[in-house]
Amino acid sequence: MEKTDGFKDALLPDDFVEQMTRVLKENDRGSYTSPAVLYPHQWLWDSAFIAIGLRHLDPERAAEEVASLVRGQWANGMIPNMIFAKGRQYRWERDAWRSWLSPYAPADEATSGVTQPPMIADAVVRVGEKLPAAYRLEFYRFMLEPLVRYHQWIYAERDPHNEGLALLIHPYEVGLDNTPPWVHQLYEHSRPWWIALIEHLRLQKVINFLRRDTRRVNPGQRISSLEALMLWDVVRRLRRKRYDIDKIMHRALFATQDITFNSILVRNNTQLQTMAKEIRRKLPEDLLAKMKHSEEALEKLYDEPSGQYYSRDFITHKLILEPTIGTFMPLYAGTITQERAAELVKLLRNHRKYWLHNPVPSVPLDSEFFDADRYWQGPSWVNTNWLIIDGLKRYGFTEDAAELSKRTLAVVAQAGPYEYFNPIDGQGLGAANFAWTAALAVDLYQNREQ
Ligand code: GLC
Repeated sequence: MEKTDGFKDALLPDDFVEQMTRVLKENDRGSYTSPAVLYPHQWLWDSAFIAIGLRHLDPERAAEEVASLVRGQWANGMIPNMIFAKGRQYRWERDAWRSWLSPYAPADEATSGVTQPPMIADAVVRVGEKLPAAYRLEFYRFMLEPLVRYHQWIYAERDPHNEGLALLIHPYEVGLDNTPPWVHQLYEHSRPWWIALIEHLRLQKVINFLRRDTRRVNPGQRISSLEALMLWDVVRRLRRKRYDIDKIMHRALFATQDITFNSILVRNNTQLQTMAKEIRRKLPEDLLAKMKHSEEALEKLYDEPSGQYYSRDFITHKLILEPTIGTFMPLYAGTITQERAAELVKLLRNHRKYWLHNPVPSVPLDSEFFDADRYWQGPSWVNTNWLIIDGLKRYGFTEDAAELSKRTLAVVAQAGPYEYFNPIDGQGLGAANFAWTAALAVDLYQNREQ
């Protein structure tokens, strides 16, 4: 393994951790941390990633970060991807979702009506490792029941045919909003006439003008306006059905068994079992059976000819053969064979696809979608790198893990903790002072010599 000391001295400033800590403090909203100034609310997987970094700085605050997600939990068990900030200025955003239309939504919080990758159990276990024993047990006890209900909800609502794979009803649920397989799904199945008309009349620029995010960030770095409209239209459709899954699935236009979401589910199922064991509780038998089934089911998303994992259309059962970073997520799941893992590492190290100067791009260089600046269609993100690094370590690819970690830290140090990075020239893109980038950089930094 490469020695990292020299690297640290050469590339990382002495006050690297302090710089990252400042970003986390700036975004601290009391019991949770907002992703950035651009995003004032609380997000599910953001808080999980933030807690994983914060545990090195202030483990009790890290515990609070994840625990605060429970306040948004719905009575049916769902933990939403967003809990909205209070205050009149955010009324429009709360109103776009109107979670209160669902009988299951919590009374005191306005939330979205969909979920996000279930990263919480992993965050809980990792935060717990940094807490004193008595506090850890108390924290696990507090989190176990809501997490069991959450994972049960995933299976009950999102795996209606008992396939071992969760289906998603909005790309926000995977958190890779405009990743190509989802864009593909939206274009095929969910482009209403008025969006087609805007496209036809080339009115996208007008829409850009009305958007809040593109006022702060160059539109070339954001999701395209047509895609944003399609995402919004799906929210409207879900809202009209009051987030009732039976009504949504009754005449669903599309649903996707997403490779990233399902890989994260598998890993977090394992971590839920770790928590239960630690506090000597038994998980319900039927949940354990479903967890086991999911591990095997990931293989249904494997495509033999290309040697890659893909997301699958729930309705047609066809793999959506658009290559993306999702193919590496089964490394994080940790349940695929060593042989498959080795194949993935070979693909990862391909210089014409993924191993660019600042890896790992969200889609490969040779994809027709590739755009080095555009959100989940090319840039490298620290959270997906972190998931891959974790998986590489688990499968014994320690050198590759160390190198990816080193390159990730280098780009953050050089450009600053941006939301995402140009994989070719390393430019920082999207929101500055992005919380999960700062937090996960701290985690990578702390673990860099292991
Ligand atoms: C964007 C990202 C999503 C993230 C959210 C808040 O929607 O695609 O993954 O959780 O912003 O940072």
